[in-house]
Amino acid sequence: MCGIVGYIGRKTAAPIIIKGLKKLEYRGYDSFGIATIGSGIEICKHAGRISENARSALHLNGTIGIGHTRWATHGVPNDINAHPHTDCKNRIAIVHNGIIENYAILKRQLIARGHRFLSETDTEVIAHLIEENYKDNLLSAVQNIVPKLQGSFALLVISPEEERIIAARNASPLVIGIGDGEYFAASDMTPVLEYTERAVFLEDGDIASLSPANLEIYHGEKRVERSVELVDWSVEDTRKGGFAHYMLKEIYEQPQAFYDSTRTLDQETLPASVKKTSSVAIVACGSSFHAGLIFKYLLEETCGIPARIEYASEFKYFPPPVSCLVIGITQSGETADTLTALKQAKSHNCPTIAITNVPGSSVSRIADTTIFMRAGPEISVAATKSFIAQLAVLMQLVNLRSGEQFTKVLLHAHRAIEEVLLMDLSDAVSACKQAQSIFYVGRGPFYPVSLEGALKMKEISYIHAEGYAAGELKHGPFALLSKDTPVIAICMPDETYGVMISNIKEMKARGAPVIALGIEGDSELADIVDIFIPLPKTHKFVQILTSLVVFQLLAYHTAVALQRDVDKPRNLAKSVTVE
Ligand code: G6P
Repeated sequence: MCGIVGYIGRKTAAPIIIKGLKKLEYRGYDSFGIATIGSGIEICKHAGRISENARSALHLNGTIGIGHTRWATHGVPNDINAHPHTDCKNRIAIVHNGIIENYAILKRQLIARGHRFLSETDTEVIAHLIEENYKDNLLSAVQNIVPKLQGSFALLVISPEEERIIAARNASPLVIGIGDGEYFAASDMTPVLEYTERAVFLEDGDIASLSPANLEIYHGEKRVERSVELVDWSVEDTRKGGFAHYMLKEIYEQPQAFYDSTRTLDQETLPASVKKTSSVAIVACGSSFHAGLIFKYLLEETCGIPARIEYASEFKYFPPPVSCLVIGITQSGETADTLTALKQAKSHNCPTIAITNVPGSSVSRIADTTIFMRAGPEISVAATKSFIAQLAVLMQLVNLRSGEQFTKVLLHAHRAIEEVLLMDLSDAVSACKQAQSIFYVGRGPFYPVSLEGALKMKEISYIHAEGYAAGELKHGPFALLSKDTPVIAICMPDETYGVMISNIKEMKARGAPVIALGIEGDSELADIVDIFIPLPKTHKFVQILTSLVVFQLLAYHTAVALQRDVDKPRNLAKSVTVE
């Protein structure tokens, strides 16, 4: 996690870096810092958010600078632990995203050789190692020390003695934006889009030297060429555009994200490994795991293809899959556990596919084939449009493998999503905002929908919420039911309807208020529950989507009613690059 930005060119660096860091706050926001080359190294760093303290860094001089927004791993978030970090002589400043796993031993050795450490971070060892290796060439110094580092890093390094930024990457994302007489370095394209759409995505092991007129890339010691890619994300997508929060804007962008993302695949572009596979293993984390779980239900039911799913972090504790297609789902393309699981699958000779939203992300360098959804940049920490776009791709996979039974359904699904965006959920919000705990329940594919609903609620409203398979609630959680513990039940007119109605009556009998999502006109359901949320009458695939959108809106409005920091919930980050 953590976001980094660098600038070198003709303009004053600090305002560009401040603006860029604000765009990367979704990666971490407990502290921030900027270093520029003005009169020597000028540094401003603080605990707290760049969006609230930007003015403090505006005085920094110079046209070369690096910046960092932090999600603390080693050392509490305070002014001292904030990046940039410097060497003993203040000749070198660095920012780092990732974790140096062997930092403790390196630190002991450096202290024994007389280095003085100021912070508790793993990062500071890098500054001191560069100091030891720096004579008159910053690039060589970085090339010399990189092999000593174990772990993940995207690094930017500056020194007042050189007119350049050195950037290095290993297992943490780093993109170089190419402007006119200027270069940008950043954790992703969002800070860069305003200036250029031309970018080079560094590979693991690359070290780059950026000067105003020149970009040189080395792989270790060897000079290499990397292709320049055009990133067609729009800068407007990175702005709030009149919405109170990015999350609400992104929820409203879902009809488009779904429509566009279903079009990433047709029979011609369907990867051969999907066409011929007879079994699938899915690895993912967080919301992506829930998308995978929904996919498992649909794939098994519709195509008869057995699918196994594991949390990516647990994948290594199970016997490896034998010759089955392994699909990694990750909106950021950077989740460490998902990357590790895919590498492991490859080491067992399994074909691999990644489904991701971010061009140039690490996962696309690991998987044999990558399917890019088309959600555009997602800034809010809670996944919404990227989640719906994942489902668009996954539902399209099911459609194509099933002989295109659902083409029409998918073609029109965005209209039903549009319809539910306009729903009034105020009664349900009132019930949720005073709850101590909320249960979400469903059956079949609506069980993972419940998991995702509960995840959205807990991560942004901080109300304890749990998703359950409806039949499981009586095996323990019933003990927790009371008038302060609403249950949100999804009750669709399918083979689960009768048993869901019985489950709802059991919950009501134990004093829990029940909010139910059902199909419009279902008076039997509406009569037995406290709050009825009617969804348009649609196909099951679309019911899944519309239920999810209602849950996103319910979480959003509840969080707003409780005055939570919706786009940046406490302790969380959007891109989790540590295992
Ligand atoms: C973090 C984010 C979640 C996301 C999860 C997996 O926890 O806050 O929204 O679902 O990571 O991320 P991925 O990028 O792999 O989908």
